Amino acid sequence: MEKPRFNTNKSAFAASSEELVFVFVYLDKDGQLLYSGAGGALLGRLQKLGDFKAKEKQSLVLYPKEHQELKNISAQRICFIGCGQAPAADSFDHLEKYRKLGGIIAKTAKKFKAVNIAVDADSLNAKREGSVQGIAEGIVLGSYSFEKYKTSNNEKQDEKQDEKQDEKYAGLQKVTFHFSRNAGRIKKGIALGQAGAAAANDARNMANEPGSKWTPASFADYAGQIAGETGINCTVFDKKKLQSMKMGGILAVNSGSVEPPKLIVLDYKPAKYAQTIMLVGKGLTFDSGGISLKPSAGMQDMKFDMCGGAAVLAAMKVIAGEKPAVRVVGLVPSTDNMVSGSATKPGDIITHYNGMTSEVVNTDAEGRLILADALAYGNKKYRPDCIIDLATLTGAVIISLGHHRTGLMSNNDKLSELVSEAGARAGEPVWRLPLDDEYIKLIDSRVADIKNSGGREGGSITAGAYLQKFVGDTPWVHLDIAGTAWRETEKDYLAKGPTGTGVRTLVELVRGWRDTSFE
Ligand code: BES
Ligand code: MN
Ligand code: ZN
Repeated sequence: MEKPRFNTNKSAFAASSEELVFVFVYLDKDGQLLYSGAGGALLGRLQKLGDFKAKEKQSLVLYPKEHQELKNISAQRICFIGCGQAPAADSFDHLEKYRKLGGIIAKTAKKFKAVNIAVDADSLNAKREGSVQGIAEGIVLGSYSFEKYKTSNNEKQDEKQDEKQDEKYAGLQKVTFHFSRNAGRIKKGIALGQAGAAAANDARNMANEPGSKWTPASFADYAGQIAGETGINCTVFDKKKLQSMKMGGILAVNSGSVEPPKLIVLDYKPAKYAQTIMLVGKGLTFDSGGISLKPSAGMQDMKFDMCGGAAVLAAMKVIAGEKPAVRVVGLVPSTDNMVSGSATKPGDIITHYNGMTSEVVNTDAEGRLILADALAYGNKKYRPDCIIDLATLTGAVIISLGHHRTGLMSNNDKLSELVSEAGARAGEPVWRLPLDDEYIKLIDSRVADIKNSGGREGGSITAGAYLQKFVGDTPWVHLDIAGTAWRETEKDYLAKGPTGTGVRTLVELVRGWRDTSFE
């Protein structure tokens, strides 16, 4: 079971005895506190002192037993969370604001080693669904950690004796939302926020595993597990099958490896549906670059080259559970990219699933080779109404957009708009890059139909142009998540390390799906 668990309780938070209770405090237009709950006069005095101004993300922990004005509160600690001014209406920023506050709640719980916390939902501003969803999401994302490979022998030499004897904190286990009204909206908000964030955490767990632990076979097993739990259909193509299907891109990238490749397909097919969405994720479990070997500095991060595949499987799990009225097919081509005597050589010419030939001028431009087969196969087999692929595809996108926005390329304005909006709501912003013919020319090859690298200039775009050759006329969006799949710095609700980017965007997109004309 995912942690933390969420509960609702239709009683005032004051009577509850959690270790830590969170109460939200807003400001009006003139900077006055908008707060009528317990301890209002005390907060007013602290605001005058300048110690708690209720600015967004400010927090203040008090001990109810130590303050006469808080004596009706049974919890050990109360944390007032500053919210600044209430947002006027539901908006993209609105969700992100509450996600950040959820992150602050998770951090505060960790600081006080609180296992059981309570949230006073009545103190949240109107437009609850978004606010509760954002808070639940922020708490689940913000309390994530990956401790699997940490043993108890890892205390630092200089750590103080009493700290050593401290009990190990098991993490946040339970969050109870107390409320007196709007039960339905609160429960729905919790369910939406929890499901999306827990799935993002699933993707982070896959990504955190070392390249030698999370293999193509692990992806296949995980997909099988999702299918078993949800009843959706799972197909795994093994190496022999990929050979008979002539998936020359996946096989070429795999040829230096001892780990056999897989192409994994999960198919959520409701009884009644009009449209089909196809998702494709790059599941490159370790990218050494192949014969065009990468420099060793930072190469360990190339275990994260499977984050697109992880996002697709994690999103499929939520979709299969929420049962929308649209068919969703998820494909993950998976292999590692290794060096050996049997590895693909620069200059080799390969033939993709659709018969197109490609000159491999750089074995490190491998993501597009495995995606090409999956895109061509899925497009032919499922005739989807639209395709979205996610891939840690190019270092160039980090140069253009840094670590904040995902790069989006597309052959369809309507689909780009839908994906951009879903990304904005999910707090995973994207930015569209162009795909003019002038860029497409850069991947012409003298000896084959195309070549797999157009060089450094416009590197993300020429990679996108390569993929476009394999989707025909189907409306398609490519998301280059190389800059956003993991973080070197933390943000309010995301620690350093893999972020699960794309999961919540896909979930948002499918949740809000209406049959669409892409003409
Ligand atoms: N997986 C890498 C892209 C990458 C780089 C992701 C850094 C995250 C951080 C991809 O397979 C790759 O190596 N791309 C090459 C393409 C080039 C050889 C045309 C790149 O970006 O250098
Ligand atoms: Mn590469
Ligand atoms: Zn790669």
